[in-house]
Order: sequence, then structure tokens, then C-alpha cells
Amino acid sequence: MLQTAPWANRSRSRWIHCAVFITISVVILFTGWHNHVGVDYKAAYGIPTPWRWSNIAEEWIALDTRLEEWINVPIPSAEDMARQGEALCPTGLGGRNETSFHVDQQAYWSSVTTGDIKRARQDLVDWLRAAHKRGEFVIWPETRTKQKKTRGMIMTGGNGRTMRRVALTLDLVRNVYHNQIPVEIFSFADELIDERDKAMIERFGKISFKTIQGKKTGAKRHYIKGRAFLRNSFDEFLYIDSDSIPLQNISQYFDAVEYASQGSVFWPDIYKDHSANAIWRIIGEPCGGDWAQETGQVLFDRTGNFGWNQAVLLLADRMQTQGDFWYHFSYGDKDTWRYAFKILGLPTPTSGRSYSPLGGYLDRNGTRQEQFCGHTMLQWGLTPPDAPDDTRYHPEPGFAHANMLKYHDSHKGRVDVFSQLQRLPVDALTEPSLERLSYVFDWEARCLSIEKQYTEEGTEVNPDDDGPLTIPFEDAFLPGREQELLAIRQVAHQLSQLGSEPLDDVTI
Ligand SMILES: *[C@@H]1O[C@H](CO)[C@@H](O)[C@H](O)[C@H]1NC(C)=O
Ligand SMILES: *[C@@H]1O[C@H](CO)[C@@H](O)[C@H](O)[C@H]1NC(C)=O
Ligand SMILES: *[C@@H]1O[C@H](CO)[C@@H](O)[C@H](O)[C@H]1NC(C)=O
Repeated sequence: MLQTAPWANRSRSRWIHCAVFITISVVILFTGWHNHVGVDYKAAYGIPTPWRWSNIAEEWIALDTRLEEWINVPIPSAEDMARQGEALCPTGLGGRNETSFHVDQQAYWSSVTTGDIKRARQDLVDWLRAAHKRGEFVIWPETRTKQKKTRGMIMTGGNGRTMRRVALTLDLVRNVYHNQIPVEIFSFADELIDERDKAMIERFGKISFKTIQGKKTGAKRHYIKGRAFLRNSFDEFLYIDSDSIPLQNISQYFDAVEYASQGSVFWPDIYKDHSANAIWRIIGEPCGGDWAQETGQVLFDRTGNFGWNQAVLLLADRMQTQGDFWYHFSYGDKDTWRYAFKILGLPTPTSGRSYSPLGGYLDRNGTRQEQFCGHTMLQWGLTPPDAPDDTRYHPEPGFAHANMLKYHDSHKGRVDVFSQLQRLPVDALTEPSLERLSYVFDWEARCLSIEKQYTEEGTEVNPDDDGPLTIPFEDAFLPGREQELLAIRQVAHQLSQLGSEPLDDVTI
């Protein structure tokens, strides 16, 4: 199987390369010569060209070999695969049982036949091979020109109030973080975009509008993200949903250690993979205990993993356009990229930290309520290259993904939208106690909060013993960010003022 295949040996040598790369990064990091990720290591350190990037033709052969091998990975029965996955993905923990997506899809998962799986694998492989034949990049070259990699930010939007939300984010990026990164905004071609909205956005400068043909409705509209990832003109990009607020200067994400070492970063969702999901039979390995991911923000380098990251984008795009099948295994587009990494035998890149519910105790009328209301996922940022070499180092907040503000009017015009957050002092995603959190979810008001955390023995973890803590929003940041925090809070308030929209109308 996977372990004995020639490709696997090749993968080990890749890991040696990777280790070399990481070692070099660490050396650069600690000698303080490093300025940013885009630095040309090869030129700077006289490293011969082939050490990291063999040519595209050679990489394609390696990738094609992997695809052929994957097609032939045996397909266990649904029961066998679920049983094998149960060790690392115990059903009762990690929100697996409470997630409506999992509960709703169980019947479909058990109906997936061996024939369905063979067809699904063949379709993805044919898709990549056809793209290669057409002369498209399936492997992304390190640089298409002799210059530095191109870097930009991409967003999706168009209908409803998405453009107003996009404008709020751009205002932060340009006028608070003073970052002039080029921005591409993707919309469905048949969406009516208000000319005034367009003009309002263009004022920020270095903005291009791009269109995607063929709007679909419902959850299937989510394929616009996959298309935007594929069709944008950058080698490296930061994608953000119109309701995800960047809490740092954009360039800090690109400079981060996790990004340099993994070639992309995805942030976690609130539940873990289910062992009975038929995706494991398709991928050909049992559930491994990952957290699902939410793609309100994604940092991606097409040249990552020896350029194979471009094949990841192509695979995810195919899954998203074939959502009638694939969205039984992934809630919308979210996990398609992660599955694509697994199909190609690549490690799945994560930010490494669990999210924190962000919100507060004040209702929209300014009255204090008993229960904390988390309407936003605070996603933690990454490790800057000059961070202290200290296990106690914790990144600052990275993004506020205000994903419940736009779905319900209970938040409209909230007073002090970001006043507190629930902090998990031990929040590395590998931490087993994260599987033992209980939540209060007030569906009526769209408020989520962590209720309790338990040890393996079933006793409650108190805040004194590193249990969940509620802290003021500003306490999560290093000192000196007061002006920026003021601006962030204003943006949050304006977002909440926009109120809710019918779910089906919102592009993203
Ligand atoms: C939760 O998990 C248990 C044990 O695996 C299972 O028996 C039960 O049916 C599950 N409940 C739901 C709602 O899926
Ligand atoms: C944000 O990053 C950009 C690009 O690196 C830089 O030019 C700008 O000065 C930074 N902004 C602040 C406020 O430091
Ligand atoms: C807040 O005020 C609005 C309008 O004045 C009112 O309808 C609503 O019931 C109030 N909500 C709460 C939670 O007090």
C-alpha cells in the first residue's frame, strides 16, 4: 500500500529536503539576516537550483505516479474503514456527534458503493491529466519569471451587502495597516454589481474585478472560492471572506514561520472528522483525527510542496464544481482542499491553534446579558520569524471571522461587538482536551460559547488549571495596538449594522 510504494520512498527524500529547508530557515531566523519569506534563498546562499525544484516535467511524472498508485489503493467496506478510524476519531468526542452535517450525512455515507468510489477517483485523476495535456500548470513553477513571487489578496463578493463588507476590510488594509497589496475581487458574472459599489471599492487603489461564469444556488454557490483560488493571478495569496476581519497587517501572515514551513495555512473549524465519512474510503486511509477546517481565511503558495500545491487547487476546484457528490463529505467547499492534500499524500497544513469564541455580554440594546454570546470565530495568528524561541510564546489574534453577524438580526447594531473572548490557555490543535469541550449554542440568537472543558477522567477543568477563561478583547493583543483596535472595533460595529441577509443570497 502507500508505505511500500516507490512514491513513498521519494516522499521520504522530499522530507529530507524539507528538513534541510527548515534547518536553513531556522539558521536564517536566528542569525537575524532573514527579512521576509520572499527572499531568494538560492541566490543568497548559493544553493544549486535543483536542490529544491526539479523541473516541471520531472515533478509531473512523480505526481502522475502518485495518482496511478492512489487509483489502485484498495477500498475497504464502509464498516471496516469506520472501525479502523474509530481509534483516532472516537465518535463521541470532538463535536463529531453533535455536528448536524455529520448526523445528516450518515445515511448517504453508508450508501456509497465501491463503484462510486472508483468513479470518483478516476474522475479526479482524469481531470488533472487533462489539464496537464492542455498545457496548463498542474505543477506550479517556483517563479514564472526571474523575479520574486507575486503576492496578493483575493476576496469574493458581488450581491447583497458583500461589497459593503469588502469595503470595510479594504479600509482597514489600506488606511489602518497602510498596506498596498494588490487585491482581486471575484464575483459571479451574472450578479448585478452596483456601479456605485464598484466605484467605492476602486477608490482603495490596486483593485481588479474578476468574474466567474455560471452562478449556482444554495451551498453549491461555494464553488466560487475554488475558482478564485485557481484563477487569480498571484503565485501567493491571502484569501478572506467578506466577513472575516484581518486583525494584523496583511504582510505579517506571509512572513510567518508556519507559512514558510508548510507552504499554506488553513484555520480550524469547531468539530473533528467523523470516522464513518465515506471520504476515507475515497482517500484510501482511515480517519486520522484532524479538525475540520473553515475557509473564512486561507494563506496559499502555489509553489508550495514542490509546486504540487497547484494540483491541490485543481482537485479542490473539481470537487467543488461536482458538489452534488463531494458536498456529502465536506460542508461546502471547506474541506475539499484538505482532502486534496491527502489524496496527493501531502501533509495537511494548519495554523496549529484552536479558535476562540469572540463576542461579549452586551446585547444590541447595551443591556448586560447573563450568557456570553460568541458570534465570531477569533482565529489566532501565526508565529513571526522574530518571535522568542519559547514554548510559552502565543501568537496574537489573526482574524475575526464574524460568521454569525450576517445571518441573524439579533446582532444588528450590537453595542461593543467585540468586547470579550473565551480563551483556551492550552489551545494547540493536537491537545486532546480540546476534544472534551462542551458548548452552549443558542440557535435562536446565533450565539455560541464554550461551556466547560473536561479531562479524560471526566472532571471539569477550571480556569485556575488552564481551563477556558473569558478575557477582554484588547488583552489578547500586545501593547501598542490601541489605534488599530479602535479601528477594528469600528469595523465590527459597522458590520453588525449591516444586519442579516437571506443565506442563499450571500455569495460568501
Ligand atoms: C453518537 O455516538 C454514539 C456512539 O458512537 C452513537 O451510538 C449515537 O447514535 C450517536 N448519536 C448521534 C446523534 O449521531
Ligand atoms: C504593513 O506592511 C506593509 C508591507 O510590508 C508596510 O509597507 C507597512 O508599512 C506596514 N504597516 C505598518 C503600519 O507598519
Ligand atoms: C432591544 O430593543 C428593541 C427595540 O427597541 C426591542 O424590540 C428588543 O426587544 C430589545 N431587545 C432586548 C434583548 O431587550
